[in-house]
Amino acid sequence: MTFYKLFHGSCLDRLKEIPARTVNAIVTDPPYNIALQPQRELHNGETIQNDALSDKEFIDFYEQVFYQYYRLLKRSGAGYLFCGWSSYPKFYDLLEKRFIIKNCIVWDKKHFGIGYNYRPQHELIIFFLQKDSTHKIKSNNLSNVLSVSDVPNELHITQKPTELLKILIRESTDIGDVVLDSFCGSGSTMEACQELGRSCYGVELELKYINTIKKRCFGKIFLDRQVKYELCVSPKVAQETK
Ligand SMILES: C[S@@+](CC[C@H](N)C(=O)[O-])C[C@H]1O[C@@H](n2cnc3c(N)ncnc32)[C@H](O)[C@@H]1O
Repeated sequence: MTFYKLFHGSCLDRLKEIPARTVNAIVTDPPYNIALQPQRELHNGETIQNDALSDKEFIDFYEQVFYQYYRLLKRSGAGYLFCGWSSYPKFYDLLEKRFIIKNCIVWDKKHFGIGYNYRPQHELIIFFLQKDSTHKIKSNNLSNVLSVSDVPNELHITQKPTELLKILIRESTDIGDVVLDSFCGSGSTMEACQELGRSCYGVELELKYINTIKKRCFGKIFLDRQVKYELCVSPKVAQETK
């Protein structure tokens, strides 16, 4: 039975509810800590939460998150964390305390975006493993530059292409395995898992994106497998709607 379990709330709290060593891969795209200013016409000037942390806040926050990754990821599992060039050193230093960093994958978006002083065409993905891991990806001839066209940010201001996520998931998991995304956004990782027959735990802080994920991923029926959907509302929201 594949499952899609979505938690509303902060991953600082909700990851604690997932049993230890039950995750085959972490594929996640946290806020890059760049105080992103989104396009006004598409997203009404909305910003991302936890995207402008001080150095101390950043360390406090991600030390807790990465401890949970360490607790949840199986020995044989793999982790993929998206980041930008400016947040890469900070994420790297904190991840390295608990994991072996195996590679830095470059996502080449094939086209450059808005900006100046060399317009941005790539993002980075830190590939990390448990320190005692023997994990190997399936392909022997895959480059660490993945060229996949970006998608329009219709569902989220930093929406990632499902096709890119599918490469990472396919390389590091098997059918029926469990993937975790603790910064779900619009649910691109969950959708990629559905297309590949993997289960997924997702966590997202903002209720509006929980609703997007529900529309995008929940209730789908598959001919080749049984599926269970579960939404864990935040204790705060549950209290308010009583
Ligand atoms: C970079 S976006 C992810 C976008 C996603 N990859 C997609 O394709 O839609 C990061 C997400 O993390 C969420 N977030 C921020 N702080 C969080 C926290 N403490 N716990 C869970 N989610 C959080 C934000 O609301 C945002 O939707």
